Amino acid sequence: MEHHADYAEFDSSLNRKDALESLIMSYTALAESQSNWVANLANCSSLLYHCYNNAGVNWAGFYVVDVENPDFLILGPFMGKVACQSIKIGNGVCGTAASTLKTQLVPNVEDFPGHIACDGMTKSEIVVPIVQNNKLIGVIDLDCTELNGFTEVDQKYLEELAVKIAETCKF
Ligand code: SME
Repeated sequence: MEHHADYAEFDSSLNRKDALESLIMSYTALAESQSNWVANLANCSSLLYHCYNNAGVNWAGFYVVDVENPDFLILGPFMGKVACQSIKIGNGVCGTAASTLKTQLVPNVEDFPGHIACDGMTKSEIVVPIVQNNKLIGVIDLDCTELNGFTEVDQKYLEELAVKIAETCKF
């Protein structure tokens, strides 16, 4: 890559699987020389947002465990509009992924009890937990303005990304 910004150029002809494989390669390359979690998750938010640019994704980013208040997640690096700062673990889609350590694939946010609506435009969502040394670190969160915005393909690659993040970041 000639410039860092080039990493955020995704070929619009790529299918979702190929785009996500390319995203994981880019994240891995960027994280090779950097282990600071803020820097890595900030660039990862950009990669995610641009990767899903044509798919109606309106928010892509992270909530991390609040070290001052470990029953809560706190807003981390993201791309998109202003969002809720703090989410109790167990609440909403993010808090459920955090408390169960299981990906939450939500085809219609209105059907998810306790969904926290940071943006009324959001119709579907996927949240993937990040675990390091058997400890919850945070979650990846993607929102979409379309129903059924995400599938098992997204789940598979975003779970792979969560493992990569745990392997490459110092929290
Ligand atoms: N909808 C999430 C809240 C975070 S925003 O989507 C950015 C939830 O229910 O946890």
